[in-house]
Amino acid sequence: MVRRPAKPEDGGVNNSSGSTPLNLADYERAAAELLPIMSYDYFASGSGDQVTLRRNREAFERLTLRYRVMRGVGEPDTSVELLGRRHALPIVIAPTAFMRLAHPFGELSVAEAARDAGVTQTLSTLSSVSLEDVARTSDAPKWFQLYVLRDRELTASLVRRAEAAGYEAIMVTVDAPVLGTREADVRNRFSLPGGVEPANLADELRNLRASGEASGLQQYFSTNVDPTLTWADIDWVRSITSLPVLVKGVMRGDDASEAIEHGVAGVIVSNHGGRQLDGAPATIEVIREVASAVAGRVPVLVDGGVRRGVDVVRALALGADAVLIGRPVLWALTVGGREGVTNMLELLRSELVQALALCGCRSLADVTADLLGPVEP
Ligand code: FNR
Ligand code: LAC
Repeated sequence: MVRRPAKPEDGGVNNSSGSTPLNLADYERAAAELLPIMSYDYFASGSGDQVTLRRNREAFERLTLRYRVMRGVGEPDTSVELLGRRHALPIVIAPTAFMRLAHPFGELSVAEAARDAGVTQTLSTLSSVSLEDVARTSDAPKWFQLYVLRDRELTASLVRRAEAAGYEAIMVTVDAPVLGTREADVRNRFSLPGGVEPANLADELRNLRASGEASGLQQYFSTNVDPTLTWADIDWVRSITSLPVLVKGVMRGDDASEAIEHGVAGVIVSNHGGRQLDGAPATIEVIREVASAVAGRVPVLVDGGVRRGVDVVRALALGADAVLIGRPVLWALTVGGREGVTNMLELLRSELVQALALCGCRSLADVTADLLGPVEP
């Protein structure tokens, strides 16, 4: 079921359509040709009518940049400080589940590519390679994404294991008391092929199959993930770890303030890539509200639809400190394994460098709100 990429060794330099990917969208087109439909739909889908999924992109495209000239930009510095560490790029790999649906080495290949690019990888609770195996593959900085499970002892053991394996932050996803309905997954009765499983979880929780007319993941999620979370559970997560705790999935200033009152070390503005509440705004539309509530107390990161270097500049100009990318990693992994992800990250890095230079920015500190132009009606 897991189809091997056509040419895993060449990073998609000669992908199935015979041309070199020049941008992140090329990777998606090439991956669509390679993947079994069940995996492609799982990766690509949003929930409901996919209005929020589309809006994540459209909102970026509406934002114009009033670039400055004559700033002696040279080669702009793309580095940023996050959680006490210098990152080469303001880009983090978002947690996405079951990367072995894209490539046999899954999360391991992403770990290697991330390390080589100086990019932090966030590993999903539902990764298809165990957190320890990923940690053994790369000693580069990594964060662990946590779904708080109904079984709190198991949840606590995931946090302890991540800390013991050297992960540097726990990112609690807070936008999924229930899993949004991705209708293609229902139609396909999404389930995992043999050999792909939630590798962090105990044997009895490894079986993700569809029964009846439903998405196997949605069933799995409602059985195992705790739908009753409140901010007090952030206190609980903080009480069982010395790592910084981030929250992912905040879309409002008041929620961001509440998160900070509960001691989080960072806020991720996210609508889960348009996969949870269809009808939510684009993330790019709410960064300003969240960043102004946070007022510099902790970093603000954003994900959803980041596909170009200029999108990174747009997000930073609105007040984000960094962005995360989800699906582009899956597409590049499908097309070219580790090399594919390496090439994709290099494309994004070089687009960012060019966008900064053309905006008149010598470093990310020069990316200020006045760069944002009028929004098209
Ligand atoms: C996700 N996302 C996600 N988030 C999370 O907290 N835990 C998870 O296990 C997953 N799994 C997952 C699987 C797939 C296939 C996708 C597409 C997304 C959401 C992810 O972290 C991120 O918020 C979005 O993917 C960002 O949007 P873009 O970059 O994909 O547009
Ligand atoms: C998803 C879950 C696993 O979006 O976060 O598919």
